[in-house]
Amino acid sequence: MQNFDVNKIRQDFPILSKMVNGKTLVYFDNAATTQKPLPVIEKLIHYYTNLNSNVHRGVHYLSEAVSKEYEDTRKLIQNFIYARSPNEIIFTRGTTESINLVASSYGRTNIKEGDEVLITHMEHHSNIVPWQLLCEEKGAKLKVVPITDDGELMLSEYDKLINEKTKFVSVVHISNSLGTVNPIKKIIEKAHRYNIPVLVDAAQSIQHSNINVQELDCDFLAFSGHKIYGPTGIGILYGKKELLEKMPPYQGGGDMILSVTFEKTLFNTIPYKFEAGTPHIAGVLGLSEAIKYIQEIGIENIASYESEVLKYATEAISEIKEVKIIGTAKEKSSILSFVIDGIHPHDIGTFLDRDGVAIRTGHHCTEPIMRRFNVPATSRASFAFYNLKEEVDVFVKSLRNVIKLFS
Ligand code: ALA
Repeated sequence: MQNFDVNKIRQDFPILSKMVNGKTLVYFDNAATTQKPLPVIEKLIHYYTNLNSNVHRGVHYLSEAVSKEYEDTRKLIQNFIYARSPNEIIFTRGTTESINLVASSYGRTNIKEGDEVLITHMEHHSNIVPWQLLCEEKGAKLKVVPITDDGELMLSEYDKLINEKTKFVSVVHISNSLGTVNPIKKIIEKAHRYNIPVLVDAAQSIQHSNINVQELDCDFLAFSGHKIYGPTGIGILYGKKELLEKMPPYQGGGDMILSVTFEKTLFNTIPYKFEAGTPHIAGVLGLSEAIKYIQEIGIENIASYESEVLKYATEAISEIKEVKIIGTAKEKSSILSFVIDGIHPHDIGTFLDRDGVAIRTGHHCTEPIMRRFNVPATSRASFAFYNLKEEVDVFVKSLRNVIKLFS
């Protein structure tokens, strides 16, 4: 790994030296949200101190300056995910809104009674509920690709489920509960053989892997700014131009129109057609800094370092006989979910917190996965490139103490 110095990187994240319950914070809840480096924090202050104004609405200096930065960010993201045009990049509130936009706009226009929408058993609720709502409204059916005991997709079942009734496939790239990395390229290729469009939920993959939407040939891709070291409340929907152009608006309001009379409204071109109202301008500018920051480190360096940390942590907790890992797929990324017989995950989380270790416990917005593995909840440690193996040692020691306490 060239030029990768984790201790130097950590200095860019002020929160990592915070004390929690008298201990130095060990932040292992990166799948829920990532911490922010100084350039992102400073950009938010800079925007509100020096640039604050609305985009696309003024001829004055501030509005023009901020509109330029806003549109430059769209181009930055276009290049980051290798989209063909900046018009294929829509700013949303996050992955959830991006998926809802597609289900609502594309879905309502194209899904009819008797059609089928195909998802998988490892989707986050945000990639289940919007499709369920659509299917209920239209009299369509939601079909689900099952998973193995290791937490891998049963691709042979996917092959069987896909048919001429299938009108949309929506699939997670990396599972937020299991860490499984899905073979999305294969999934997309198969769907395209039937001319079925595919949405990729990249909420847990955009920060760990190089994503090239043209190479993948996905039709839509959704991710959130706050999981890639940017602010909350900002996200991206990528969509192929030819699909976005045909889709009706998702919300009505300012900026998404060309002209309005009481009789008829003419809509703006993409991407503005899907960006009604004043957007999260500070969020867009902050996201721009976050992406520049990780580009500087290099996504390959990030992925390679994080996989070392995951391997180290997996080996360490595998030595504790009481621990059962949930999600043992061959291809995994940065997420370690586990249960311990006789100790509720919330108790584990609470005791770890006393040692300054932040993990997430619960169903992680994936209740169907919990039912599949017959557990009410799991404890989940999730890693980022600023985490240390020494922090894994603190986590494992704390975990051993919890087990001792409960035995
Ligand atoms: N979806 C986020 C998580 O997995 C909130 O924690």
